This record gives sequence, C-alpha cells and structure tokens, in this order.
Amino acid sequence: MLFYLIDKKLNNTTDNDSKANNMTTLLQLNSSIFSANGNSSQLANEFVAKWQAKNPTASLIVRDLASHPLPHLDAQRVSAFFTPPESRTPEQLVYVEESDALINELKQATVIVIGLPMYNFGIPSTLKAYFDQIARAGVTFRYTANGPEGLLSGKKVYVFAARGGQYAGTALDSQTTYVRDFLGFLGMSDVEFVYAEGLNMGEEIKAKALANAQQRLAELAV
Ligand SMILES: Cc1cc2nc3c(=O)[nH]c(=O)nc-3n(C[C@H](O)[C@H](O)[C@H](O)COP(=O)(O)O)c2cc1C
Repeated sequence: MLFYLIDKKLNNTTDNDSKANNMTTLLQLNSSIFSANGNSSQLANEFVAKWQAKNPTASLIVRDLASHPLPHLDAQRVSAFFTPPESRTPEQLVYVEESDALINELKQATVIVIGLPMYNFGIPSTLKAYFDQIARAGVTFRYTANGPEGLLSGKKVYVFAARGGQYAGTALDSQTTYVRDFLGFLGMSDVEFVYAEGLNMGEEIKAKALANAQQRLAELAV
C-alpha cells in the first residue's frame, strides 16, 4: 500500500493504523530542497524501492518536507504544547493537533528513512522544523528520576546523507552527532547512516560515492 501524505492537515484518525493491523509501516522523510531530484532523496527512494520489493505488504508514508514544509516552532505553538489540554484555546488545539498528527504518523512506523542533505554544515531547516514538531515532553520523551527517557522505541532508522564535501568521521560532521542524539533522545537509538560524500568534488569522486552508497543501501534493504 502506498500513501503519499503531503498535506500538512493530516487526518488524526487511525483508518490505516498499521499497528492495529499488525502491519509494517515505513515512514520516509525527504528533506532535499530539490525534492525528488536531490541526491539524498534519490538514495532514500532507491532504498525504499528495494525495501518494498522485500516487504510487499508493508505500508509506505512519504513526506517531502521541501515541497510541503511544516511551520517553524514559535512562541504560540510551544505555549500550546505546554498548556494543559482542558485549558487550550481553539487556536492552540489546532497547533497541538498538527503536532499530534505527525507524532501519530511516526508512532505507527517501525522503519524510518531520512534523506539528509548537508546545507551550510547543518541539516535542512525543514527537517529541523519537523524535529521541533515531534519533540514533545510527556508525549515523545519524559524526564524521570534517572534522566530523560525516549518514548518512541522499537524503530529502525536509516539515514541517507548527501554532502558536497567529505566530513564523515571528522569533527566537522556535526550532522551525524546531532541527528543520532536527537533521535536517541526520543527513543530511536537503532540508527544506520549511509553516506554519499564528495559530491561536489568532481565527477569521478561523485560517481564512486554514489555507487558505494547504492551498494550499501542494497545490502541494508531487507
Ligand atoms: C545551499 C547549499 C549549501 C551547502 N552546504 C554544504 C556544506 O556545508 N557542506 C557540504 O559538504 N556540502 C554542502 N552543499 C552541497 C550538498 O551537500 C550536496 O549538493 C548534496 O548533494 C545535497 O543533498 P541533496 O542533493 O539531497 O539536496 C551545499 C549545497 C547547497 C545547495
């Protein structure tokens, strides 16, 4: 089954609740500003196609964060999150519903695929906006006497990272640490990174990097 959920007004009901039906769901988040033409999107798409071939009954949800960006977190939205449900204004209820829909979508997925370009040494702002919508105290993480506890466990995450330069394994790769730490904070600690690096360093390096990434994604698509 293929669902393209590209409208930010998502349905909060569970018509296609894969968990209830015991069905596997893959949630794909592409964040290249070039949408499907981005290198990260193409690698993520190739992985998903191979994964689907091995998991033909699984559900797929695709979210293109560039063509359908989410609003940035602001004081109004974060205040809505912090307001007790019974005291929320109609406007605050809408803000919380939008975040809840994203979280419900994420909760129902057991496999998460992220297309991750590097822009100006960071992650795309659209992906950061998504992260800001799903990090909710008491909903996706909580603080306990033993420290923070992520509430989104039992998921496998694949990240397809595309970069113009070569940074993996160096201090300049702030992306990997940040994404791994953020996902881990929410309970998603099983994260696999596949890198395509040096894409702006000439055709030969680019071709080799993409071929290596394609080989790795084919191995991972089970
Ligand atoms: C606005 C912009 C900023 C970029 N900044 C960096 C950077 O800081 N480091 C880097 O290695 N590559 C950088 N690049 C190159 C991209 O990482 C590379 O083009 C990669 O393919 C982007 O992924 P995408 O094709 O999925 O969009 C940048 C590209 C653009 C368009």
